[in-house]
Amino acid sequence: MQLQEILYSQGFGTRRVCAGLVQQGYVTVQGRAQDDAFADFEAVDGLAFTVQGTPWIYQAKAYVMLHKPAGTECSQKPSTYPSIYTLLPAPLRQRPNKGAVQGVQAIGRLDQDTTGLLLLTDDGQFIHRMGSPKHHVPKVYEVTAKHPVDAGQVSKLLAGVVLDDDPKPVRAAACEATGEHTLRLTLTEGKYHQVKRMLAAVGNRVEALHRSRIGELALPADLAPGQWRWLAPAEVQALRTGK
Ligand code: URA
Repeated sequence: MQLQEILYSQGFGTRRVCAGLVQQGYVTVQGRAQDDAFADFEAVDGLAFTVQGTPWIYQAKAYVMLHKPAGTECSQKPSTYPSIYTLLPAPLRQRPNKGAVQGVQAIGRLDQDTTGLLLLTDDGQFIHRMGSPKHHVPKVYEVTAKHPVDAGQVSKLLAGVVLDDDPKPVRAAACEATGEHTLRLTLTEGKYHQVKRMLAAVGNRVEALHRSRIGELALPADLAPGQWRWLAPAEVQALRTGK
């Protein structure tokens, strides 16, 4: 693939801008300075290059995790709080998709005050699969509740509670009290404000909410709020297969 095409596919601007970056000597590939925008490289995942000193790794599709901080919205056009997309570097926001600049998209949404693990990708099929009710990817939430958590609440959450808009009860796949005011809840579906509404349905109230895990993928302890990182191929594969 031509070097300008590689840069374009990774979100470094239009083909013309990318050609200019190469011609001005701003690009290295595998440590070597480049000056020919049409030079051919094998576009394999892992090809290392730099653009204006920024190191980047070629990935045909981008899969990343973000530690979402409180006070951010999972929308491209937020109404009140800053968008989570401002926490990502420009190339991830500018990756072209079918000719349009779309960048990576969040897989599902967390409320503005919820923290924790959020996945983003530009792979439409992966978004569809992860969001499909058939796929049942378990998501683990750490809940801090206003009132003490008791065994009755835990068993109701496991047995199923009715939310106002739907007569079919929703149940936690797993639920355990982890302290007097804290509990760990696993859900395999993602209805609007689901954890908050489930807690309200058992007479409690969510004070703080944190997503610690999606499927086999746990939020790493060393990924600070606001930070992102690439997913390893094995992590993507585990999310795909549920193993
Ligand atoms: N459930 C909620 O109520 N809020 C979230 O952000 C995620 C799950």
